[in-house]
Amino acid sequence: MLLRNWMLMVLLAVPALRAESVRTSDWKEKEGEIHGAVPELLVCADGRKVESTETWEKVRRPELLDLFRKYCFGYNPVGRPADLRFERDGEDTPMPDGKMLRRKARIRFSGPGGEASARVLAFLPQNAKRPLPTFVMLINRSGERKQWADETRAVKHAAWPVEQIIERGYATVCYFVQDFDPDFGDGFTNGVHGIFQPDVKKRTKADWAGLAAWAWGASRVMDWIETQPDLDRTKVAVIGWSRGGKTALWAGANDTRFAYAISNDSGCGGAKLNRMKLAKSEHISQIVKNIGYWFCGNYHDFVEREAELPFDQHQLVALIAPRLVYVGSSDKDAWAGPPAEFASAKLASPIWNLYGKKGLEGKEFPAEPFTAYLDGDVGYHLNKGPHQLNAYDWKNYLDFAAAHGW
Ligand code: GCU
Repeated sequence: MLLRNWMLMVLLAVPALRAESVRTSDWKEKEGEIHGAVPELLVCADGRKVESTETWEKVRRPELLDLFRKYCFGYNPVGRPADLRFERDGEDTPMPDGKMLRRKARIRFSGPGGEASARVLAFLPQNAKRPLPTFVMLINRSGERKQWADETRAVKHAAWPVEQIIERGYATVCYFVQDFDPDFGDGFTNGVHGIFQPDVKKRTKADWAGLAAWAWGASRVMDWIETQPDLDRTKVAVIGWSRGGKTALWAGANDTRFAYAISNDSGCGGAKLNRMKLAKSEHISQIVKNIGYWFCGNYHDFVEREAELPFDQHQLVALIAPRLVYVGSSDKDAWAGPPAEFASAKLASPIWNLYGKKGLEGKEFPAEPFTAYLDGDVGYHLNKGPHQLNAYDWKNYLDFAAAHGW
């Protein structure tokens, strides 16, 4: 009896504990509703309110970055390697269309576990004003690599529409994420994991995993961009689709040199708010079972416990503020959870407001596809169709850049 009373008292005293221990698949909310309380964006861990950009930058932002490192993507053991170097791969090549130049380079580096290199493939418009705003595209499909990033441009793919980008007067650079880390689970022995942490036994549950390695690669591409005088280092966007979209957000959150981050259909672990109930969308249980090596070990502890995550994805989007961010969804892409991708972008907006900028406040998840919100510093659109990155997405991403003076 005494024991029962005691237990009751504990339960009453900690109501949050009761609410949060419900398994994700047992949530009672209606489809599209948010379960429980979304973690605070504007309240610091010590209870202080974030009312100035200073508190955001000095206290809250570092706290959130740390949470995502610790519980989701993992900590990088290395920043810019001391021996990082770049090699031009041949001369600039004028392309047959007479409108652009191709530039190829190789990024080389080493660590205690050996050395590696990654390719960079860039196209620059011939006649546009220099220095050029630049879109960094993550190529994250190995089998389709040739189609996505054909350097001869004989094969063209909607996911990386080089000609469409060049037409707008921007440069575009792609890199192959698998040059930094192959996209399969091998216990973190290959790619940059093996190079910088050769002793896997020393790995902890908070060490970097796959997506963090690819985002680290984006920063090395940025290092290369900074050595190219005809590219405008102050106007560099990082864009990715799906697993690449998750990576682009993490790259933008970590590396403030990216002035614009674009997530296209990034879904679970990307822009999708974990606490929104969307039965057909991907959950942590599925993503860690199928592709657990994208995330650090601690993330795996949140299977069926989404409501207990110490963060949610609106905070990931917010880490990009006050720079430009854009979240694109597609209406038939239920797996990525479009309403939850929108929710993160909207819930992140108060940070832009702190800077006197406009986010998605006042906007609702679009009732119809082909709706785009381009008038603030947080962009959003709903494309029509399945999981894809196509000309409609790119048109909006480029329009958004142009609307911001790129
Ligand atoms: C899988 C995975 C998604 C991911 C996608 C992709 O579907 O479950 O999380 O976004 O692959 O990268 O194409």
